[in-house]
Amino acid sequence: MSDLLNDPIAGAAAEETGKKAHPKKVRVVPESLKRFREIHAQAAAGGPPEKIAAQKAKGKLLARERIAYLVDENSFQEIGLLMESRCTDFGIKDKHIKGDGVITGFGRIGGRPAAIFSEDFTQLGGSLGRTHADKIAKLMDMAADAHIPVIGILDSGGARIQEGVDSLDGYGEIFLRNTRSSGVIPQISIILGPCAGGAVYSPALTDFVFMAKGISHMFVTGPEVVKAATGEEVDFETLGGSMTHASKSGVCHFVANSEPDCFRQVKELMSFLPQNRFENPPVMDTKDSATRRISLLEKLCEIDPRKPYRVHHVIWWLSDDHKFLEVHHDFAKNIVVGFIRLGGQVVGVIANNPAHMAGALDINASDKAARFIRFLNNFNIPVLTLVDVPGYWPGVAQEHGGIIRHGAKLLYAYSEATVPKVTLVLRKAYGGAYIAMSSKLMGGDINFSLPSAEIAVMGPRGAIEILYSRQIKEAKEEEREALRAKLAKEYSDKFASPYQTASTGSIDEIIEPSQARARLIEAFRLLAGKRRPGEHAHTGNIPL
Ligand code: HXC
Repeated sequence: MSDLLNDPIAGAAAEETGKKAHPKKVRVVPESLKRFREIHAQAAAGGPPEKIAAQKAKGKLLARERIAYLVDENSFQEIGLLMESRCTDFGIKDKHIKGDGVITGFGRIGGRPAAIFSEDFTQLGGSLGRTHADKIAKLMDMAADAHIPVIGILDSGGARIQEGVDSLDGYGEIFLRNTRSSGVIPQISIILGPCAGGAVYSPALTDFVFMAKGISHMFVTGPEVVKAATGEEVDFETLGGSMTHASKSGVCHFVANSEPDCFRQVKELMSFLPQNRFENPPVMDTKDSATRRISLLEKLCEIDPRKPYRVHHVIWWLSDDHKFLEVHHDFAKNIVVGFIRLGGQVVGVIANNPAHMAGALDINASDKAARFIRFLNNFNIPVLTLVDVPGYWPGVAQEHGGIIRHGAKLLYAYSEATVPKVTLVLRKAYGGAYIAMSSKLMGGDINFSLPSAEIAVMGPRGAIEILYSRQIKEAKEEEREALRAKLAKEYSDKFASPYQTASTGSIDEIIEPSQARARLIEAFRLLAGKRRPGEHAHTGNIPL
């Protein structure tokens, strides 16, 4: 007992276990611990109260609240809380705040670790000075070494003007790390405030960009500069709001209705991703029967091949528990991409969507699908391609806009991908677009077709106008339509079916529509050993 009284550590331990070392001893908090707690609390409080109030008045969460929404409870471990700017110019010294306007650290999301940074707009407008950038760069290096994803929450006035080129260099170090980690660990950007100037390029280098309606804005030059330079008058929302980037520029992959909704979506996306290129994506048990019959596809065999439908219905019916996480929902709607599970395994889907532009391929669809395929290939996620494509979208704008250059990206992405690739032709597969959509000779591992498929160089109507132009011209006006119909039927009977393609082996199997789910699950199971994670060449996920 006397030993216990003389040894302060042993005394404290005894207190913890409930044994009293000395009945009358009052516990005094040591000065060093008091000081640490004060500094810590001050630093963690964020910016001045009026700036916090202003942030809340805009309907925005605080930087720390955002992290709390994202990570598993009590899992966040901060690093660099006490780092400060070393800049003294423009009176900024008086405004120095510990943390330098960004919170960096590690947390768990769905039980798995991730590196997270969250910019604090209440501190110097979240502007990026050198220390701020160094903190992010250090975090990114640690994440790259630990092979865990990086999630950035951006809310910043951009390069800290008072720090001059030092802040620009700060962006340089982040861009470099974004690029080096591309295709190695997943990188996700959540824009929850302004993101202006060159600052937009870090998110653009990452794999997925999230924005929230009315809260997020991204642009290289703001409305005032635009007006001065071009005379165009435009507001923040129209120039760089979430819907602009989701539907027009394609910069944004996911739009949320609110900040909590945004974090929910991020977590859902994470549940489909592996931690790095050396792992497979997480498998999830399902009670959904692998042999569940898909009657919806039987209907496809009945309907007029020119009739539009949303391919989403097919994806929902094929996938486990009817769950589909669509990526880029509002951009290039003629092609649909996203994540599903088949028999518990994560699969990336690429599907032509006849409900929009008849499902034809164009510039934006090619870019959208190509980058997604490259992401899947980087992260060991097998590819399912659902084909219903009449060809490439014609027009001067497409040709002059570079459909040749952009369309080639899709061919490249499919040809380069070594993950398992299974293709199902639902209806039309014509011409160059047939080849592009993961055809057999371009590297498709298993290529199925429904009996309703039409696989040909072009559609019957277009084909007969070329093959029989003289006969059609020479026919009497009143007989032309009947002749066209007859010739088109002859052409359809011969070419616009999957049988000729199956006879050459370019389609492996024509399948019963109702058994499509079972066949696809079995095909991916069969191909599971095609490639071991991390064995593939590192290509990165260059923005396309
Ligand atoms: C230093 C900045 C800042 C910046 C904002 N602040 N942006 N401080 N450098 N870039 C400060 C403001 O002075 C203010 O400080 C506080 O942050 C809050 O800003 P407010 O203007 O009061 O907020 P708000 O009205 O909401 O407007 C937000 C804003 C506006 C739209 C972002 O602040 C703005 O236009 N900022 C400049 C944006 C910009 O042009 N950035 C440079 C981009 S060029 P006080 O002390 O008053 O609280 C760039 C190059 C990167 O980033 C290149 C990378 C290669």
